[in-house]
Amino acid sequence: MTQETKTLADIRVEAALGGGEARIAAQHSKGKQTARERIEQLLDPGTFHEVGMFVTHRASGMGMEKSHPFTDGVVTGWGKVDGRTVYVFAQDFTVMGGSVGEAHGRKIATLLDMAKSSGAPVVGLNDSGGARIQEGVDALAGYGHIFHRNVHASGVIPQISVILGPCAGGAVYSPAITDFVFMVEKTAHMFITGPEVVKAVTHQEVSFDDLGGAAIHRSQSGVAHFTAPDEETLLANVRWLLSFLPPNNLTPPPWVSPEDDPRRATPELGQIVPLDPQQPYDVHNVIESLVDGGEFMEVQDESAANLVVGFVRLDGHPVGIVANQPFHLAGVLDINSSDKGARFIRFCDAFHIPLVTLVDTPGFLPGTDQEYGGVIRHGAKLAYAYSEASVPKVTLILRKAYGGAYIVMGSKHLGADINLAWSNAEIAVMGPEGAVNIVYSKELQESKDTAARRQELIREYRAGMANPLTAASHGYLDDVIEPSESRERLIAALDVLREKRLPAPSRKHGNIPL
Ligand code: HXC
Repeated sequence: MTQETKTLADIRVEAALGGGEARIAAQHSKGKQTARERIEQLLDPGTFHEVGMFVTHRASGMGMEKSHPFTDGVVTGWGKVDGRTVYVFAQDFTVMGGSVGEAHGRKIATLLDMAKSSGAPVVGLNDSGGARIQEGVDALAGYGHIFHRNVHASGVIPQISVILGPCAGGAVYSPAITDFVFMVEKTAHMFITGPEVVKAVTHQEVSFDDLGGAAIHRSQSGVAHFTAPDEETLLANVRWLLSFLPPNNLTPPPWVSPEDDPRRATPELGQIVPLDPQQPYDVHNVIESLVDGGEFMEVQDESAANLVVGFVRLDGHPVGIVANQPFHLAGVLDINSSDKGARFIRFCDAFHIPLVTLVDTPGFLPGTDQEYGGVIRHGAKLAYAYSEASVPKVTLILRKAYGGAYIVMGSKHLGADINLAWSNAEIAVMGPEGAVNIVYSKELQESKDTAARRQELIREYRAGMANPLTAASHGYLDDVIEPSESRERLIAALDVLREKRLPAPSRKHGNIPL
């Protein structure tokens, strides 16, 4: 049958089969679903509307003229997730390895344009051998058009990339520009150059998984925000993430009727957080106690684990949480946690998601590794992101808030709206031991009982200088509260700030220290 004699029904059947049954079987044998199976799993049943099914390439040479598969290796369209519109593209590895040619790239770029102009999120399901070798520079142009659309849709609609197969070379930059990257274990790989090139250039031998698998990008590079052992779980988590997000930058995030009491007391927080500032605890337990139903969707959970970020609901409203994690590196701030925090804050700010900051940090991590790596520049990103954010910002100091870390962790001075602290919190330039050693070094040397005098001075410092009532008396805290009041007070603060509007400064854009 020639292209011309095919009926509409023939075309639909042929397109639905992608690269044919043998290649579908090969895809399944690798533990991978087809593009259409993935779309079905992502969207509400029966809601997918395909566009561009009839698109074929217009290339010739290297055998391209012999075959013109429908879709050109990418299935595009829109559907619903929990009844809300989402645009989706899914690269079809059974058609020329899902490689990106001119028509394939144009289809994705057009879909991004549609998503942006109609104000709905876009989810890209990536499974591709990269730039289509037979299409040369036209394939590269296809990628360039996608990158350009990704950048211009950034901050307008949420963009989510799901990596379900190879994603190598320059192809990684579209996911990297989008807001969130999901990777499935074992079959997804992301790298700039593969193991063979790495060996040729650096003589280093490394496996696909160790170079760019999901575990590496979750724990080491931070490139993957979420991973899962199988496609089904990963796609269910994409739906979960979408449940927190507004469709675009002009619409408030979705409210769900809460089952948790907004006035629920949280006395357990007094036990979860030890009074001794040297004692670690897991801040996840604090978050789960505070938020609706204990539901917390953590972002980048394994990389820079000293700062915990993610989405929760308070009285049914989506909120972004930023919290120091005393369980990991005592909750210090460093290069990677600053990057992680700043990026998350900027995402929340772009999409009207209020920020709640939970502070318990001894400060920035000292050392040559940090200084040589540019902790000055990276730490500045946190200050920048908090200052720039115009969403409601509420900060609760749980325990320690010292030095520069006190300032950058959502302090009043960076424009937070409501700042609270527990009555046992410590706020100062540095911890009591360090401060006493510096200020009273001479006195301590001359003291007959140095240890006892040091302890006395530390107690005085804690009670006076570091006491949250001192910060409150200077107007830097709006209130000092008990742990049991925390949930109710955070919800009340967010409620009064719901209609907050801050006009953006008149400028093209600021210059965040990247
Ligand atoms: C054209 C490609 C292709 C490509 C795969 N195929 N990659 N066709 N261009 N880039 C085709 C194969 O010819 C094959 O066709 C089918 O897809 C499946 O490929 P296999 O090799 O059989 O599959 P598998 O063994 O699973 O290996 C997958 C793979 C491998 C690891 C992705 O195909 C591969 O290494 N491909 C080349 C990757 C690459 O170097 N891409 C360019 C990267 S640079 P048939 O007809 O047999 O089914 C790049 C720059 C982007 O992308 C720059 C953007 C700015």
